[in-house]
Amino acid sequence: MNKTQKLAVVVPAAGVGRRMGQDIPKQYLLLDGQPILGRTLARLLACEEVGLVVVALGEDDPWFEALPLARDPRILKVRGGAERAHSVLAGLKALDEQAYPWVMVHDAARPLVTNTDLVLLMDQARQGRGAILAAPVVDTMKLADETGSIDGTVPRERLWRAFTPQCFPTAALRQALEQGLADGAAITDEASAMERQGHKVALVAGREDNIKITNPRDLALAEYLLAAQEREGIA
Ligand code: CTP
Ligand code: MG
Repeated sequence: MNKTQKLAVVVPAAGVGRRMGQDIPKQYLLLDGQPILGRTLARLLACEEVGLVVVALGEDDPWFEALPLARDPRILKVRGGAERAHSVLAGLKALDEQAYPWVMVHDAARPLVTNTDLVLLMDQARQGRGAILAAPVVDTMKLADETGSIDGTVPRERLWRAFTPQCFPTAALRQALEQGLADGAAITDEASAMERQGHKVALVAGREDNIKITNPRDLALAEYLLAAQEREGIA
């Protein structure tokens, strides 16, 4: 693998943010005065190894064009799909696999990803068949029964929380997602599609401030984490 070859990033941004409960999709809510998606795209485009960002948008999206980066030549827009995996696949289909043999997929709702983690992930991924940013769980893990009581305690030593970005060979990921969707499998991240195909995917310990803004309380947490990053010199 040519180390100087740039990567593409697919950003699924076609969700409605139901759990956020606002009247616009969460990726357009303001985080310290700037739309979340604008911040996510700016972090990705600031990475020297990123050559193109394909962003999958909802069918009726009147907000994207108002972002400062909307007309950046390194951004390609596609129409997203019914579920996250469909949106990611739509992005992959718009990619020239020769020009971009490696791709990262990154949630629009994770605006706090850092350059250090992006580079760490790419380097690890390209040593094998792919990698994801993740973090080991710290709490004791309980398995629930149907009534909400405890069925058992799950050893946490091998449990990790999966983040994005997730980085894979473009052609293999496209094939894995197409197969997973065709099989009706639950594909909640890219790695789960690759795992089904028997690919070994590496876990890369990433920063835990790379949160996915999901629930209303996450916005205040993200503002706090952003300010802490800025004090650290990350912007
Ligand atoms: N996403 C997408 N297409 C979909 C569903 C989700 O591109 N059909 C994107 C979201 O925009 C988000 C990312 O996938 O950037 C992660 O999904 P999630 O956090 O679940 O976002 P939403 O689906 O928008 O939120 P919710 O599940 O609360 O409705
Ligand atoms: Mg969702």
